[in-house]
Amino acid sequence: MLGLFDSGLGGLTVVRRVRQLLPQHDVLFLADQAHVPYGDRTSGELARLLSNNVSWLDAQGVDAVVMACNTSCAVADVSGWPVVRANILNLIESAAIAVGDAGYRRIGVIATTATAATGAYGRTIRARVPGAHVVEIAAPALVPLVEAGKAVSGEAARAVAAACEGLPRDLDAVVLACTHFPLLDTYFADVLGEHVARIDPALEQAGRTAALAQARRLQPGSGRTRYVTTGDVNAFRTNIIDLTGEASPECERLDLGEYLNSR
Ligand code: DGL
Repeated sequence: MLGLFDSGLGGLTVVRRVRQLLPQHDVLFLADQAHVPYGDRTSGELARLLSNNVSWLDAQGVDAVVMACNTSCAVADVSGWPVVRANILNLIESAAIAVGDAGYRRIGVIATTATAATGAYGRTIRARVPGAHVVEIAAPALVPLVEAGKAVSGEAARAVAAACEGLPRDLDAVVLACTHFPLLDTYFADVLGEHVARIDPALEQAGRTAALAQARRLQPGSGRTRYVTTGDVNAFRTNIIDLTGEASPECERLDLGEYLNSR
């Protein structure tokens, strides 16, 4: 079983890519919507949430934690990763691999405030692509719009345009460095135009997950996906139906605090 988590609906963009490559594997997705948005939180809070989420997934018996939250990866780059039994696949590392493989040199990174503040993207990309020029900017207005069910709206289009004003003009590529942002991809495409590539790290992340599944000979399951939220399960179900097209997704609510107290 593969475990993924995010603060909210953005993680579905990673679930989708993993499902495409590994349709027979079982997937457990945790959306910590009780604490969304992560991007406005302190690094101390984020390190604690990362540890809680990874511990819970590990306790469910997942073989791998496929990170579906850039902000959590960015804080781990500074504070360290929790030590668990499952393998952890770092989404920022996947983004850097995608950048390196494509040969891009002038990179924009559009992320949450917390991610941009760590500089983790710049460090990770430059480690793979020496001499790469990386500009990291924050776009805090976008996640709340997606969580409010406004991913397809004039408001979202305007917010993406405003966010991209902070990017230099002469870029090869822009990394959509928050998993909520691929849900706004058409608006990014409109603003960035055809000469700037858009990188969704979820593609490489799914590829690395498939490689791990093969290397570790992980047994496929029944292709089941369980969607778990720490927030409002009815709103979660409606959003999943809208965003994935699944008719009756298997959704449940988790009281993570109760779980942590019972350990
Ligand atoms: N989707 C997450 C990320 O990739 C976090 C968004 C948020 O909660 O601020 O960074």
